[in-house]
Amino acid sequence: MMGKFLVIFVAAYAGFTTADTHYLLSGFFSGTSIAALEFDDAKLSLNLINDITINANSSKWISLDESKENLYVGAPGYFQSYSITSGLELDYQSSASLPSNCSNANYIVAAIKEPHAVFGAPFNLGCSALAISVDAAGSLQSSFANITYDNRAGVHGLALSPQADFIYSADDTGNAVWVHSYNQPSAVIKEVQRISAPDGSDPRHIAVHPAGLFVYVVYEKSNELAIYTRNKSTGRLVNTNVTYSLIPSSFSNYSSYYGDEVAFSIPGEKSLPPRYLICSTRSLGTTPGYVTAFALDPLAGNITSQLFVLPTTGTGGQANAVSPASFSEEHFATTDTSSNFIEVWKIESNKTSTSAFAAAHVDLDSAPANAVWYT
Ligand SMILES: *[C@@H]1O[C@H](CO)[C@@H](O)[C@H](O)[C@H]1NC(C)=O
Ligand SMILES: *[C@@H]1O[C@H](CO)[C@@H](O)[C@H](O)[C@H]1NC(C)=O
Ligand SMILES: *[C@@H]1O[C@H](CO)[C@@H](O)[C@H](O)[C@H]1NC(C)=O
Ligand SMILES: *[C@@H]1O[C@H](CO)[C@@H](O)[C@H](O)[C@H]1NC(C)=O
Ligand SMILES: *[C@@H]1O[C@H](CO)[C@@H](O)[C@H](O)[C@H]1NC(C)=O
Ligand SMILES: *[C@@H]1O[C@H](CO)[C@@H](O)[C@H](O)[C@H]1NC(C)=O
Ligand SMILES: *[C@@H]1O[C@H](CO)[C@@H](O)[C@H](O)[C@H]1NC(C)=O
Ligand SMILES: *[C@@H]1O[C@H](CO)[C@@H](O)[C@H](O)[C@H]1NC(C)=O
Repeated sequence: MMGKFLVIFVAAYAGFTTADTHYLLSGFFSGTSIAALEFDDAKLSLNLINDITINANSSKWISLDESKENLYVGAPGYFQSYSITSGLELDYQSSASLPSNCSNANYIVAAIKEPHAVFGAPFNLGCSALAISVDAAGSLQSSFANITYDNRAGVHGLALSPQADFIYSADDTGNAVWVHSYNQPSAVIKEVQRISAPDGSDPRHIAVHPAGLFVYVVYEKSNELAIYTRNKSTGRLVNTNVTYSLIPSSFSNYSSYYGDEVAFSIPGEKSLPPRYLICSTRSLGTTPGYVTAFALDPLAGNITSQLFVLPTTGTGGQANAVSPASFSEEHFATTDTSSNFIEVWKIESNKTSTSAFAAAHVDLDSAPANAVWYT
């Protein structure tokens, strides 16, 4: 299986500029595997091509570095790094350990700017997140600073400012958003702001627009997308108190859903701004979860319209993380733990409206957590 895969992969990679074949990796809430998947954007097929054994019993969040040479994994008790081989295998390199009472590694993100520090958060009450250095190859070295909160905090998601000089933390348990400054020459991280969210919001995940003026937060409990403005020099946030529902506006049962993810589409050229902001929410019942997308102002990055709110093909279960493709702003992956699958969705527009559909589906043996696009 692996030998055959290697040949196919190298052949596809050689024709990269014209190929319609793309590769994703997915982590899992339990089990010692990371899945490698192949998506064909012409045939709209999605297939499991490799079940890679890793050095951990779960991989609740995975993230690539900017060069896509390393995969960072949130594993029980550790943040781990794996180098990605040309055959899309993973070679374990190193890890940074978490304290025993803060071991629920839940989120990890790598700075796209030198020195490419990596930030990881455990989802445990009162625990700090870690700032971790990397070596020249991108392997994790050691924790060089704690990102500290208070004893009410349980941070579920992190995001970095465009220059990686500020760290934003979505504090789900403490119902707040935190801002920390990161001075790169001195490697010092300091608290700048703790901003309480409205009662019953529970910030889960957060995304900073590349223009640096707007920060978007998914409120898990109230099932909304919240808009914060950001001061580019101080990093401080102001809650505009403007929110969008992640479920159809006619629904009054927002407490039957749990907001999940917020992510920008990825323009092919790095200098271009993202066109879309994509969010997901899970259903707590047996009816579907939802995905929604917003159009963004290309300069400021504020929302100009909500494009669609569409039911997903499962409830979402524990997680339905959306993951925008790196090759096209019109594609994003979703995970779903209600019946263990990953889908690739395609956004389609005509003159009057924009919609999306589940274009490709693959069933998996266990519950996928989040996917990242390798090509
Ligand atoms: C996975 O869990 C089992 C049972 O708790 C343990 O023996 C094993 O060491 C764990 N493996 C890793 C890689 O953490
Ligand atoms: C973790 O355990 C240590 C040692 O018992 C304790 O000092 C610390 O406060 C604990 N941290 C948290 C976040 O509970
Ligand atoms: C982070 O906090 C832990 C627990 O308080 C402490 O043991 C460790 O030395 C700190 N790390 C750094 C880099 O300051
Ligand atoms: C950002 O904060 C600084 C310092 O408080 C202030 O002088 C500046 O006017 C703020 N910028 C905006 C756009 O509000
Ligand atoms: C948002 O609401 C809070 C709490 O009511 C209020 O203090 C704050 O001024 C409001 N923000 C704006 C931008 O109106
Ligand atoms: C929420 O309400 C809508 C409209 O009545 C209904 O279709 C949907 O199934 C409900 N969702 C859940 C999770 O119960
Ligand atoms: C977006 O923000 C810019 C800059 O603040 C503003 O000029 C523009 O009117 C805003 N657009 C919308 C749709 O809010
Ligand atoms: C545009 O797309 C929408 C949603 O997919 C559809 O309902 C509508 O009929 C389409 N309009 C045209 C002019 O094709």
